Amino acid sequence: MNSILNLIRATPLAYAEELVKAFMISALRTGPIPSHLSFVMDGNRRYAKKLGLPLADGHSAGSNALVEVLQLCFRVGVKQVTVYAFSIENFKRPKAEVDTLFTLLKEKLLLAVTEKQFCESFNCSVRIIGERSMIPADVLKDLEKVEADTAKFTEHTLFFAFPYTSRDDIAHSMRSIVQKVENDELDNFWSY
Ligand code: FPP
Repeated sequence: MNSILNLIRATPLAYAEELVKAFMISALRTGPIPSHLSFVMDGNRRYAKKLGLPLADGHSAGSNALVEVLQLCFRVGVKQVTVYAFSIENFKRPKAEVDTLFTLLKEKLLLAVTEKQFCESFNCSVRIIGERSMIPADVLKDLEKVEADTAKFTEHTLFFAFPYTSRDDIAHSMRSIVQKVENDELDNFWSY
């Protein structure tokens, strides 16, 4: 199925698709463009179920769609994108699914943003804003390498909230405010 789709894409249809895309992007660029957009990954399993595909194919299609959406955002003029990629609760999923996701992250997403010159062509740095202590060591090592390698790109930023949860976000913010108050770095804090 995938090879048939690739064949169709390699025909004039792909050219037409790109033309329509370029036209839509130019139209969008004439209006106000948000400087920062966020996306929460959702619906991968439902997509796979609906098409009768293995669950891993749903996640794979989700990461392909993510790369396309990121390209569109940066082409339209959005400067920063945050992707809520994997929540802390997602660690409770079956080990096989979590392993599939980490493999996808390493073998597909990271390659898409590095080897396929995504970061270079969009002048885009990648930053991890999740709870790093929960990321498996080998995955973290790869992510930190991508962060270091792309730090030189300053026009766009891709924030990866991985892993995240709102409760953890709030606790993290409170800890950092407390730290700043203790260090006397928030002079006007009590007047707010
Ligand atoms: C939500 O769909 C998606 C996820 C839980 C993870 C998707 C992330 C990627 C494919 C990016 C690479 C992976 C990592 C680890 C950053 P869902 O599974 O909740 O689907 P549903 O809403 O249909 O149940």
